[in-house]
Amino acid sequence: MANENFEPKITCFVCNWCTYTGADLAGTSRLKQQPNARLIRVPCTGRIDPVFLIKAFETGADGVLVSGCHPADCHYNTGNYHARRRWIFFRELLNTVGIPESRVHFSWVSASEGKKWVDVVNGVIDKVRQEGPFEGYKKINNEFALPEEVEV
Ligand code: FES
Repeated sequence: MANENFEPKITCFVCNWCTYTGADLAGTSRLKQQPNARLIRVPCTGRIDPVFLIKAFETGADGVLVSGCHPADCHYNTGNYHARRRWIFFRELLNTVGIPESRVHFSWVSASEGKKWVDVVNGVIDKVRQEGPFEGYKKINNEFALPEEVEV
């Protein structure tokens, strides 16, 4: 479902040491990036709980990107290996929690790969734009929302 006017919201969980620095390099190098991504900096991809991703969708994200250090470059040695193992299981569960697998993306971007960051994030934004808005949790949130005025 292509929607030319739809501007997706992409929540990006990025590790402080590699991808965040790579994204910063892209900015200081004035590389063109679409303005749809919001970055959440974490110490390491090994620190990212899958619940963070579910929460991102629940609060309005249309897509999620997780990116950290390349294998063998993690500043905490094995954090990204733990993350990779966790994502293998988490992918299996995505459909169960109502999130299409195609809305969750993973990549490795180092501190020196500003150009790669721009390519990855623009690619994710374009793919999610093609899919259209993620409505799955909006409907559930509306059904269980508290009334606006609660008398006490
Ligand atoms: S410090 Fe970057 S993935 Fe672990």
